Amino acid sequence: MGVKLDATIHRLPVPLKLSGEKIWEPLHFISGRTKNLDSFTFHESALAAGASPHPPHRHDDEELLLVLFGNPEIVIHKSDNKNQEEVSMSPGDFAYYPDGFRHTIRNPGAETANYMMLRWGCRSLRPNRRIDKQHIIVKSDAYRKEVPTHFGTISPVFEFRTRWLSKLHCHITNLLPREGYNPHIDEHDVFIIVQEGRIHTLGEDIDPYGSIHIPAGQSHAMLNPSDSPARYLVFEFHGNSFSRHFIRVIADIRNIMRKTVRRVIHIQI
Ligand SMILES: [Fe+2]
Repeated sequence: MGVKLDATIHRLPVPLKLSGEKIWEPLHFISGRTKNLDSFTFHESALAAGASPHPPHRHDDEELLLVLFGNPEIVIHKSDNKNQEEVSMSPGDFAYYPDGFRHTIRNPGAETANYMMLRWGCRSLRPNRRIDKQHIIVKSDAYRKEVPTHFGTISPVFEFRTRWLSKLHCHITNLLPREGYNPHIDEHDVFIIVQEGRIHTLGEDIDPYGSIHIPAGQSHAMLNPSDSPARYLVFEFHGNSFSRHFIRVIADIRNIMRKTVRRVIHIQI
């Protein structure tokens, strides 16, 4: 079990340069646990031209990858599980990988590329048996055009159940100048990355490439303190609640008891 995480703000260096002769270099910001997640990590990586950090791999954790700089390609397997495909990515594009999904990234460009990665798991709770998505790729063209016309314009991007979450939710918020939200507490973990303009939260002004992680149960407010619109990308991590887990365990115990009773009756006959 890692350390219990508090709300944090990180300003991502973009472009992030490589040091020395390295071809791939991660810069780690967050590693720990929250009320909803046994593990949650966040890092930014620099990837040299022509390089890949590792061969395609798979793991139990789920991941979100967001491109910050350059034009890397994500390398993912097709649904036939045999062939792979490369998808060219631009800054602002992002991808979700479920657990067990084979993937890597490479940089076919001429300059160092940057991307950030969120990775999480929750092994202390039984994983959801059915998941809703294999993977998702979101292109920034789909949301960059949104112009805020009224208070708190929210554009949903996706929402579905995953192996470790009752709900992974993503939306874009556009805030008009001087608008915001009062302090409140969410029961889910929130990760925000500012894409345009300036927002004020947790006592600080945050500009593009600024990230905010607010674990479940921690109070936060939001304000656009500037004279220009602000836009930020929001990921919500809704945990597999105790009640859901409890109901599943009770159902399993009932099934075992039914089978045992049937077996006893069968033996007696
Ligand atoms: Fe990975």
